Amino acid sequence: MKRPQTLRALDALKYVIETLRGFGIPEANCPQEARAILKDGLEIDTLRMYRDNLPLSPGQLRRLGEILDRRKKREPLQYILGFVWFYGLKILVGEGALIPRPETEILVEETLRRAGKVRLEEKGRRIKILDLCTGSGAIALALAKNLPRADIVATDISAGALGWAEKNRRACGAENVRFLEGDLFGPAGEGKAVFDFITANPPYIKEEKLKSLEPEVVCWEPRIALSGGRDGLDLTGRIIREAPAHLERGGFLLVETAGGTGPDVFDRMAGEAGLRMEALVRDLAGFERVFIAKKA
Ligand SMILES: C[S@@+](CC[C@H](N)C(=O)[O-])C[C@H]1O[C@@H](n2cnc3c(N)ncnc32)[C@H](O)[C@@H]1O
Repeated sequence: MKRPQTLRALDALKYVIETLRGFGIPEANCPQEARAILKDGLEIDTLRMYRDNLPLSPGQLRRLGEILDRRKKREPLQYILGFVWFYGLKILVGEGALIPRPETEILVEETLRRAGKVRLEEKGRRIKILDLCTGSGAIALALAKNLPRADIVATDISAGALGWAEKNRRACGAENVRFLEGDLFGPAGEGKAVFDFITANPPYIKEEKLKSLEPEVVCWEPRIALSGGRDGLDLTGRIIREAPAHLERGGFLLVETAGGTGPDVFDRMAGEAGLRMEALVRDLAGFERVFIAKKA
């Protein structure tokens, strides 16, 4: 479609929806994405757009062209805009960091619910949390902002992802989180450090399923953040097996899952590791999303 030289805001909205459709972006996503491009990409207030319907400035037209050029290559909008909202925090994202998904907020919610019940005066100390596979740091920072009386260690094997996590830590002003690079529990202290909570959103997509994902995911997001091996459980299995050595008695492990694995498999994995499965929490779409186990 030829680029228009002038556009009023409402025409721009229609033009962006049409253009995104032309790029092959799933129909259902186009209107919502077009509104986000106008609001967050061009800083056009939605209310004013409907009320005033002003023409786009030359700068806004140029920026719109840049956004659409990148979107045509199916780069995720969140990378183009440079951020995503997660649990009320503006999380900066770009190449090297997985884009935090809304369903991951369930894991945060379930952790906060349990952390709220920890009787700190009985323990005489702060709550200790380990967030594995932290990526952009979204989970660790959401917990840190809501649990000022917690100390959080967050690890990831990718230096690129941790670069984003550290930027986010500074932007959020979270003093109670430390990001460390390395394989799973490795940087947390070789079994000496014990935690009240271990959280993780590990890569869990089955290798064979990767090919069928949208280009935004498979061509742009880091493969190391996606692939969970043949059955999707490579890292999840390791986390469940290794977690008990790093958990306090009465501590919880919360791991995001792909859904479809089934409670029996998780129950068995938990039992073999010496943990008791507490729940397999479903997301709004009905998929089993968060595996929760307790160390007795
Ligand atoms: C699905 S992403 C989750 C990112 C973030 N926690 C979130 O929820 O948006 C998985 C993360 O695990 C990291 N990862 C993959 N293998 C790892 C390993 N062996 N040890 C530590 N981190 C690993 C990846 O670099 C990636 O950042």
